[in-house]
Amino acid sequence: MSKTYNIAVIPGDGTGPEVIAEGVKVLKAESEKSGFRLDFTYYDFGGDRYLKTGEVLPENAVTELKKHDAIYLGAIGHPDVKPGILEKGILLRLRFELDQYINLRPVKLYPGIECPLKDKGPDDIDFVVIRENTEGIYAGAGGVLKKGTPDEVAIQDSINTRKGVERCIRYAFEYCKKRNKANKLTLCGKTNVLTFAFDLWERTFYEVAKEYPGIKTAYAHVDAITMWFVKNPEWFDVIVTDNMFGDIITDLGAMIQGGMGIAAGGNINPEGVSMFEPIGGSAPKYKGQNIINPLAAICAGGLMLESLGETESGKAIEKAVMNVTANNIKSLAAGKMGYSTTEVGDLVVKNLK
Ligand code: IPM
Ligand code: MN
Repeated sequence: MSKTYNIAVIPGDGTGPEVIAEGVKVLKAESEKSGFRLDFTYYDFGGDRYLKTGEVLPENAVTELKKHDAIYLGAIGHPDVKPGILEKGILLRLRFELDQYINLRPVKLYPGIECPLKDKGPDDIDFVVIRENTEGIYAGAGGVLKKGTPDEVAIQDSINTRKGVERCIRYAFEYCKKRNKANKLTLCGKTNVLTFAFDLWERTFYEVAKEYPGIKTAYAHVDAITMWFVKNPEWFDVIVTDNMFGDIITDLGAMIQGGMGIAAGGNINPEGVSMFEPIGGSAPKYKGQNIINPLAAICAGGLMLESLGETESGKAIEKAVMNVTANNIKSLAAGKMGYSTTEVGDLVVKNLK
């Protein structure tokens, strides 16, 4: 009997459902080719459901999702909902409650894609950012005093636990070793100012490094790394960093790989249920027009298969996407691809070998 994976699908808001539909199309085609089964169960979590019911996530949502092998997410964010409600109530809540402590974001320039950096090509831009995904400033520690008065105090603490930092750093070393490309891991921090938090990160990093003599280590301050991403992206192989810095540098990473239309990420719990998403957001102004680029969602599907252990299939999807970027689409931008959303999905399917 062929292997079956149970996938929870959360298409979400804006163009999420359109790009997820193409991703599911590609995943189905690849699974049929490779002889495993994917069982998709859809969940309507997102802005529309919240506006209708007043509930961000139903009570049993996390328990339900935990029954699956992986989660495939479109986008969360609705123009009629105050920023923060859906992001914190759905995306961050799932990351935290499912303990998806790794946010994995490949930054890779595919052939045929225009790079905003002068004189840089696919050989120069191919690295992976491993962002801690459950702690830091995102943990929600802090509070407000005397709100709305001239004496208002707002405190937002960064939580860094030895356990949280160490498991992230260990994952990064393991990942770097498995990737076996330049075998170089860079810690991105701010040891010159955040002397409590990044002292913990730095000590842990060099302690764990002793167990990986084959991996070269490097360190970069977060401000400097934004400069190097633009000037010398070829220096990087794998980068490990905290939640907030990872959030910021991966948007820059997405831009140097061609834009949000291609950037995918995984929220990974190596011992539990992981969630894969295009990182571009819900792009509500393009909703319903069949012009949004589905490649990021398709790539997220590829990452999902790799994490499920279907490594060859994950790679096959990436290869097919690379053929499409090299030979077909004119631009990654919505409405400028030279093809519709559904046609791009069809092209990727056609290129699956
Ligand atoms: C991301 C997003 C989220 C984050 C937002 C939507 C909460 O920017 O996945 O990078 O800040 O982590
Ligand atoms: Mn972000």
